[in-house]
Amino acid sequence: MEWWRTAVFYEIYVRSFQDTNGDGIGDLSGIIQRLDYLNDGTPDSLGVDALWLTPINPSPMFDFGYDVSDYRAVDPLFGSLAEFDRLIAAAHRRNIRIILDLVPNHTSHLHPWFQASRRSRNDPQRDWYVWRDPKPDGGPPNNWVSTFGGPAWTRDPTTGQYYLHSFLAEQPDLNYRNPAVVEAMEDVIRFWLDRGVDGFRVDVIHKMVKDAALRDNPHPAPDEEHPVRHYGGLKHVYDEDQPEVHDVIRSWRRILDHYGERMMVGEVYLFDPRRVALYHGNGRDELPLAFNLSFMWSPWDAAAFRAQVDGIEATLPRGAQPTYVLSSHDAPRHRTRFDEPQWGAARARLAALMLLTLRGTPFLYYGEEIGMRDVLVPPERVCDPVGKRFPAVGRDPERTPMQWSAAHGAGFTTAHETWLPIGPDFATLNVEQHARDPHSLLSFYRRLIWNRKQSAALGHGRYRPLDGPPDTFIYLRESEEQRLLIALNFGGERRRVALGGLSAGRIEVSTDPGRLGDLTPSDFALGPVEGVIVRF
Ligand code: GLC
Repeated sequence: MEWWRTAVFYEIYVRSFQDTNGDGIGDLSGIIQRLDYLNDGTPDSLGVDALWLTPINPSPMFDFGYDVSDYRAVDPLFGSLAEFDRLIAAAHRRNIRIILDLVPNHTSHLHPWFQASRRSRNDPQRDWYVWRDPKPDGGPPNNWVSTFGGPAWTRDPTTGQYYLHSFLAEQPDLNYRNPAVVEAMEDVIRFWLDRGVDGFRVDVIHKMVKDAALRDNPHPAPDEEHPVRHYGGLKHVYDEDQPEVHDVIRSWRRILDHYGERMMVGEVYLFDPRRVALYHGNGRDELPLAFNLSFMWSPWDAAAFRAQVDGIEATLPRGAQPTYVLSSHDAPRHRTRFDEPQWGAARARLAALMLLTLRGTPFLYYGEEIGMRDVLVPPERVCDPVGKRFPAVGRDPERTPMQWSAAHGAGFTTAHETWLPIGPDFATLNVEQHARDPHSLLSFYRRLIWNRKQSAALGHGRYRPLDGPPDTFIYLRESEEQRLLIALNFGGERRRVALGGLSAGRIEVSTDPGRLGDLTPSDFALGPVEGVIVRF
């Protein structure tokens, strides 16, 4: 079985993981320093199998690395190519795989390709980006809007034409209808595969190809004041998810397969799981994995989680498998999203138990294993371009430095200032303190992940949901070798779970440390916000 089917991935927001040169910003050598924490081969470490690093390429950082100015180098803020080679070697020695963030839809406006492209209408690289004349009234060529608010077009004074940008004006979109662009990005992919990376997380992959005629999207009332309603209020018929994007992805898959077991996980940011499923092609010829971000938008509700899981299971083609994500660098942390005075901590455990026992590839976000929360960032320290424009939905709060210890700088840095503030609770909420406590959330994550590695049913078993009492989500994971029942109680009431035809078993893992042991023959009780793994 391919390694990425059973792997637990861990997203590292590189700027915030570990600083080693005292500039208040994380770096590659910081990641090397923390590899043993991530997986030293023993259950005393977290045990993750693969790291996804947010963009490390040189960038003017208008969108914190998602605006690349050189695809074949490392930004000096983070280190160098030599440092990167050291990271790959050190990770591989521990059986940890590394995947990079590939940002193919757009470059930085400072990338030499765009610098050439904007120089004149006749430049050989003009057509590497999407340029159009203004409308007769001087306005933008069509009604498309940027994901970050405002029109998706900016007029460039040098030639008087507009260029397309799905995000910031500093992130011009490449033109994948030009074969030279397709080839250039394939060379980038080979460059990193040759350096030993195990794969890529591909940024907004569904956006790479646009309608050839750049037709207007159907236009209900846009809301200029709210980025989500503004962008989400439009029907995105022509500015993303075009059939030709699948040709590009198929050719990338051929490259991956040529290198052996390398992978890609695509950020297919579409709300309809049936559209996302298409990015797996026939299950073998397009994306190995696509992000399923539904848990990031889900309320705390057992039926809602089950509906999302059943929906994904029903839509994927044979051979494809789901992914699950609770938190990322683009959305509030789930410890905060699902918080509640009485049950907040219990919910974080229950969510982890679900994430790590479903059929699919889980992606953790750094800090979730200690229950890090969103941090309030004062207006004068806001960095995220989205946060500057729309304070209510800024992404800085979930990107703050990892809380390693109670030391000055939270063990993240020796600097006096960090690029984003450190969470005010770091003295009591940090890795060092969690590592000492066998009942901590970190200890629970470790147990779950190491348990998962040894479990045939969790590794490759089928998923079968069972009906249960209100507020519960109950499912079986079954393989030839092993049968497990996972029972999750999302509500604050005690619930009895009938075992039905199943013979009684043993609670192997519970969110309540006192609950391990044999079950009574016919049923068992779940405490409020409790979850268990039962082996039969
Ligand atoms: C993706 C990234 C996000 C970035 C955007 C533009 O959604 O996850 O952080 O701002 O693409 O590249």
